[in-house]
Amino acid sequence: MWLQQRLKGLPGLLSSSWARRILAVLGFLLIIYWYLSTGSLFRSLWYSGQPRSGPAACLLTQTKQWKTLSDKGDIMMISFPGEESKLQGPAMVGNGFLLVDVNKNNLWVSSATVPFRMTDYSPVTYVKNSGTGAEVHATAIFYREGLMRTVRCLQMESTDPHHDCVSIREDYFAHRSRPHLYIQRIHVSNPSDKVVAFDISSQKPPPGAKFSTSVEKVQDRQFLLSSGRVALEDGKSILVVIATKKLVNRLQVSPKSEFDETVLSVIYTSDPIDSGKLDESFSKLRESAKKEMLEVMRMRPDDLYNEHQQIWSDLFVSGIEMRKIKDAHTPSSDTINITLYYILSCSPAPLVDPLISNEERDKMELSLNYADHCFSGHATMHAENLWPSKLSGITQLLQLWDVWKLTLQKRGCKSLVLTGAHGLMQGMMLSFGGLQFTENHLQFLSDPHVLHNSYSLRGIHYNKDLINLAVLLDQEEKPYLHVSVKFQDKLVKLYA
Ligand SMILES: *[C@@H]1O[C@H](CO)[C@@H](O)[C@H](O)[C@H]1NC(C)=O
Repeated sequence: MWLQQRLKGLPGLLSSSWARRILAVLGFLLIIYWYLSTGSLFRSLWYSGQPRSGPAACLLTQTKQWKTLSDKGDIMMISFPGEESKLQGPAMVGNGFLLVDVNKNNLWVSSATVPFRMTDYSPVTYVKNSGTGAEVHATAIFYREGLMRTVRCLQMESTDPHHDCVSIREDYFAHRSRPHLYIQRIHVSNPSDKVVAFDISSQKPPPGAKFSTSVEKVQDRQFLLSSGRVALEDGKSILVVIATKKLVNRLQVSPKSEFDETVLSVIYTSDPIDSGKLDESFSKLRESAKKEMLEVMRMRPDDLYNEHQQIWSDLFVSGIEMRKIKDAHTPSSDTINITLYYILSCSPAPLVDPLISNEERDKMELSLNYADHCFSGHATMHAENLWPSKLSGITQLLQLWDVWKLTLQKRGCKSLVLTGAHGLMQGMMLSFGGLQFTENHLQFLSDPHVLHNSYSLRGIHYNKDLINLAVLLDQEEKPYLHVSVKFQDKLVKLYA
């Protein structure tokens, strides 16, 4: 009875605006409740998706900084479980004299007169767990360290999830100030209470390869010496000699212990020569390789690494920072970062070459700090051929490097190109924003139509200072410039 009465009264109730408001509020609350509850459902799914044990959890612990570094643009993720690769180009390291395509296990060399060529030599050392357990891995390029790093975690048979995080970290880099040196650092950590065994191997040269290897003993040191050649189109060839550390085939890492190994490779190449003079040139190269090998074997691996890392982090004192991109033709910040990294990796760095004379170095520094008339032309920001979002491999990368050098040379930046990696960084930055050095000042000649993007160029060399120039947008989206200066001497010591 009561309900009937109520129901009868309902149409009347609903017609009152007061009731409709209540209904609307109730409906709104219901939507919010639904939203929150499904939200928390997603969240709980996500949490349960985070592995708590096993190799995946181990990998997350070992790479816990990577996400932050990747968001900041300090590293480029190449692979990570469950994520698509961000890298749209070769996974490589280089120093302007040698390039290593780490994923493809290829070594490319150049000489004073011959541009980069691929060799038959396989530079990567493989460390594989002798067991059959599963393995997960993550790989990234670290810009400020100038290296590529892989971390792998092994599935162990042990049952204790906290103590079975057996991991292998490998760093690959072409030494920035020692053009002949390529390094692979290996670090194995075994916190479990079992011995873990690994097989160490390198890829055998393909059948018909022009490389042969022998064991050398010099003083108390033993290493491998590989010799080979790369045939050129004109019948001549360049000779390549590589000294590498001799490693054991099988490695056992005891429970609760760590293992470190630094695989050094010293690589020497000749100018193009006729086939008649092979022997003489080979023996010269072998002598140079042996001599440098002895020298670097005596050094502490950490010192070698620090030398290298310092130069890369100084190079990336400069750079391009995108804040807001408002059109489709502007390259993404990942594309800009990796393009800078690629071009620097292809370029030698004569400014940090220990063999260069003071006079030459002063001259180069002068042009780095003031490259008159560079960059004269339209900003390259929208040039898709200079900032490509994709590269198919090393060959295409080398073409890109040539296009960059040509563009800069044609646009008044010849002296910067001669300054190698440091000069190219400066030239690419100036060109990006259309900045030009002229008669004692730095001009900003950007097209108004590119000014709707907001970005900053950090660490432009200008006389003895470093300038930061930012193109920012005010509240009405009108562009304005912000310039700040840092004194180079205080900020960084560029050349030791
Ligand atoms: C990579 O790009 C981001 C965004 O543009 C920038 O902030 C960062 O500094 C860049 N990384 C390097 C190493 O220059």
